[in-house]
Amino acid sequence: MTNGAFITFEGIDGAGKSSHIDALAQALRAAGHTVTLTREPGGTPLAEKLREMLLHDSMDALTEALLVFAARRDHLRCVIEPALARGEVVLCDRFTDATFAYQGAGRGFDLEVLSYMERLAQTGVGLQPDLMRSPDLTLWFDVPPEVAAQRLSAARAPDRFESQPVEFFTRVARGYADRAAGAPQRFARIDSSQPREQVAAQLRAVVAARGWLAQTP
Ligand SMILES: Nc1ncnc2c1ncn2[C@@H]1O[C@H](COP(=O)(O)OP(=O)(O)O)[C@@H](O)[C@H]1O
Ligand SMILES: [Mg+2]
Repeated sequence: MTNGAFITFEGIDGAGKSSHIDALAQALRAAGHTVTLTREPGGTPLAEKLREMLLHDSMDALTEALLVFAARRDHLRCVIEPALARGEVVLCDRFTDATFAYQGAGRGFDLEVLSYMERLAQTGVGLQPDLMRSPDLTLWFDVPPEVAAQRLSAARAPDRFESQPVEFFTRVARGYADRAAGAPQRFARIDSSQPREQVAAQLRAVVAARGWLAQTP
């Protein structure tokens, strides 16, 4: 058996996920782990092509969900499962919780159908045929949608999701809260409305509490 860990970063656009993932990877490497840093949708040549379509081409909710899971399966097969099998720590910027939050709560797509698609796409990819891959830890960057929108407006040109109105992100944020309530052991809430240094410290403390980094006094 290996001691790999699958850690996902979740939260609405503008929450601060990408701002912290590199530093956490560095801290984990300094602690002796081999780290694979990746993102969704994307992470493989095929999945990155699907990402471009998802972020820029208009499509209906079912097409969107199918493409998200197609990208995820390829990513699991080619990157995530092999890295976990080698005993690495995988840090992934978004994973299936984002599908439930965005396509489910945000777009209104049927959650039971998403659960079925999750089982279909994420089972039997790795060494254990019966295992449906799910993260070991999910770092949930929680921030009021208005704060996230303000950060984004100053940061970059919006994609198909980022250009949605604040009400969309209110629904997505509620979707994340529901996911967290349904898996309290796996989710760690990070208050990402705080200044960056405090967010980073909270992040390190959560990962240290799970045994992947040394505890700092
Ligand atoms: N704690 C913070 N306080 C203020 N601004 C932040 C904070 N964290 C990130 N930002 C800024 O907010 C914007 C969105 O951050 P980003 O990490 O890209 O979010 P995400 O990856 O969750 O969409 C960036 O311009 C970033 O510099
Ligand atoms: Mg990001």
